[in-house]
Amino acid sequence: MLNVEVNDKGHLLIGGADTVKLAEDYDTPLYVIDEKRIRENYQRLHKAFTRYYPNFQILYACKANTNLTVLRILEDEGSGIDAVSPGEIYMALLSGFKPEKILYTGNNLRDDEILFATESGVMINIDSKSQLLRLSKITDPENVKISFRINPMVGAGHHEHCITGGELSKFGIREDEAIKVYKLAQELGFQPIGIHAHIGSGILDPEPFMLAVEKLMDIAGKVSKATKIDFKFIDFGGGLGIPYHPSEKPLDIKEFAEKITSLFMEKLDEHSLGEPAMYLEPGRYIVGDAACLLTRVNTIKESYRKFAGVDAGFNTLVRPVMYGSYHHIIVANRANEKPVEKIDIAGNLCESGDLFARDRKLPELREGDILAILDAGAYAFSMSSQYNSRPRPAEILVKDGEAEIIREREDFSDLISKQVIPPRLLK
Ligand code: LLP
Repeated sequence: MLNVEVNDKGHLLIGGADTVKLAEDYDTPLYVIDEKRIRENYQRLHKAFTRYYPNFQILYACKANTNLTVLRILEDEGSGIDAVSPGEIYMALLSGFKPEKILYTGNNLRDDEILFATESGVMINIDSKSQLLRLSKITDPENVKISFRINPMVGAGHHEHCITGGELSKFGIREDEAIKVYKLAQELGFQPIGIHAHIGSGILDPEPFMLAVEKLMDIAGKVSKATKIDFKFIDFGGGLGIPYHPSEKPLDIKEFAEKITSLFMEKLDEHSLGEPAMYLEPGRYIVGDAACLLTRVNTIKESYRKFAGVDAGFNTLVRPVMYGSYHHIIVANRANEKPVEKIDIAGNLCESGDLFARDRKLPELREGDILAILDAGAYAFSMSSQYNSRPRPAEILVKDGEAEIIREREDFSDLISKQVIPPRLLK
């Protein structure tokens, strides 16, 4: 959760900037991203791990937020990238990331996507035997750096859609097939350099991570023994949660890093795995609490329930509808006022489920109020759409009280770009 600051007018500040003024200057709905917070999150995590294991690298999971400015900030911090599509590779390269710091973990890839990745020179994390065989047919195995994504049969996450390990998961290679695929890769002429697992997203409990580390290290040990592969990296994926609800406790990152690295080093020793780099792929942890969505109350309505209708919808931020996720809401123009009523916060789309909150305790809302929906830095803009033909919002970056536009608000022309009406239907 954002550490909220309030100025003497009672206005919520983000990155030192007055959110009410931002809403006036840039209109709503508006994503406001705090540069300092992104850097702090990155540095806190990096420092916690390198303290115990210096050969540590963060690969920012850019699906969380692919704004080019966010990518630039993280490149500047020294991050690498976890990319899941050719589009993400394209944007990461454009933002200055070196291909050797990009790991492409795709799922159900087409051959042209595999080719795009190999031609871009990025590392490829293979998710199935089919992908390995196709990769060997269309590329020169000697020139491609590969790893395998293993399903360690440990899964966790804030919602069942966000659990990526275990029997039901479509991701990764069965643990009992791990040795086979690494051997096959060698026979095909590849020299695999890494091993990977990602168990899920939005995890605040260190336990599943510990289990996954133990499992993946034992698998890595067996693979290395059977194939003589000298792993250059072992990648435990992302998944580190953030507290969205005031009652949730953040991960104690120092303690987490100490636990994970000590188990990791113990297992390196046990299996004589040398000193490979340890990779983590956090998305949410880096950007989740570094942004908020500003939206304006345009309608107060009492029917069978009391609603505050706002000028954003699940096209703008889908998490509450898609996962039932809680996002804390602050009345930005009266941020010091105490909650007095329970109210539903409804979006502006023509769908009954388009709600940001039900029965949320807030100060008495008025038309014209600006609401700040917090923790909207991850899986927020990146999951937005133009549903109901609503152009997407603008994004701004704030630093030391100053704001800069980093994505223009869309307009109607964006709704029709790329559409073609066959001439025979034109009058
Ligand atoms: N690595 C891999 C291979 C992943 O699939 C993901 C997320 C990550 C890293 C980063 O996970 P994070 O550190 O951000 O938890 N839309 C959902 C989250 C989906 C996550 C998908 N994969 C949400 O809004 O909660």
